Amino acid sequence: MVEDGVRILSNVVVSQIDIFAAYGGVIPEVAARSHLEAMMPVVDKALADADCDWEEIDAIAVTYAPGLLGSLLIGTLTARTLAILHNKPLYAVHHLKAHVYANWIELGAPEGKSSLEPKFPILALVVSGGHTQILYMRGHNQFEIIGTTQDDAVGECFDKVAKILGLPYPGGPAIAQAAQGKIRRADGNETEVRAGDPQKYRLPHPKVKGLDFSFSGLKTAVLRAVQKEVGVPISFPSHELAAKLTQEQVADFAATFQETAVEILVEKLVVALREHPEARSIVLAGGVAANAALRAAAKREFGEEMVYFPAPKLSGDNGAMVAAAAYFEILSGVEPADPYKLNIYPRISVEE
Ligand code: KG4
Ligand code: ZN
Repeated sequence: MVEDGVRILSNVVVSQIDIFAAYGGVIPEVAARSHLEAMMPVVDKALADADCDWEEIDAIAVTYAPGLLGSLLIGTLTARTLAILHNKPLYAVHHLKAHVYANWIELGAPEGKSSLEPKFPILALVVSGGHTQILYMRGHNQFEIIGTTQDDAVGECFDKVAKILGLPYPGGPAIAQAAQGKIRRADGNETEVRAGDPQKYRLPHPKVKGLDFSFSGLKTAVLRAVQKEVGVPISFPSHELAAKLTQEQVADFAATFQETAVEILVEKLVVALREHPEARSIVLAGGVAANAALRAAAKREFGEEMVYFPAPKLSGDNGAMVAAAAYFEILSGVEPADPYKLNIYPRISVEE
């Protein structure tokens, strides 16, 4: 529940991380089923936490694209039903737009900045489990994709490298902690060692022209480097491979990988800014934007004034960002969706 696009009245997030940590990743059917079970309790709690009833609500916003088919269906069907039942306008929001608009929510007084809001034109780096894109925004609700990944998303790469290193799902936070010497192994074992050395191993930067990304080679490079380090053949299954690493080696690989991934992202932002020198803000968005090393590197490269990112709890998937995006769509004159017809689009891009 969000007021005027930017003030959170309630933000109820049900995480399926515990379920998927047990499987080592997302299983679409399980995700859909637990969405179904969680949906109405979440709606009720969001209303209760905000101390609101249906009369006070102006509109309903829902993610209709992109993502897992089952989860999108359950979300949109719930929103469509509620819109019809309570006679409210329904707004269909693209998931990546929602991630970007998390940057407009609950702006305090960020250090070193003269403006609380990002200033247009904006270069937005959207980094999540499913996407790695640079978007150019001329104004509100105007998104142009100027760079995208040719294979894996960077969040997916964090998740896969975590698996190679024997760290739990989701890999992003586990790798960030391991780089600092806090090792939570996938088998539940927790230890603390010295911080990892980000210079310990050599990992190549992909040679991709322009503003596009590639992360599948980096994942393979980590696998090869681990195999070389422990001296076992290529075909070794990775859980057995990880068991051969010392905690210090895990910390060093986590630190080296994280630093390389961050360098690749920031290098492309440098090129993007060179091609669009008129850009006045750089905005980080999506689950990987919670990464402290990425935030620090972006601030170092472009300065405090230029760089924006959401509060860590708003970087990952949440409902408030969907409501915020809908608010700015409404201001931009977007018409509500037909609650009898709204469709889902598991793959549609943010430009369509
Ligand atoms: O946006 P998000 O919550 O869900 C998707 O839309 O995909 O992003 C999830 C991704 C996962 O790959 C997760 O490992 C990554 O964000 N992530 C991080 C961090 N926290 C979450 N990656 C790096 N550092 C983090 N601190
Ligand atoms: Zn997301």
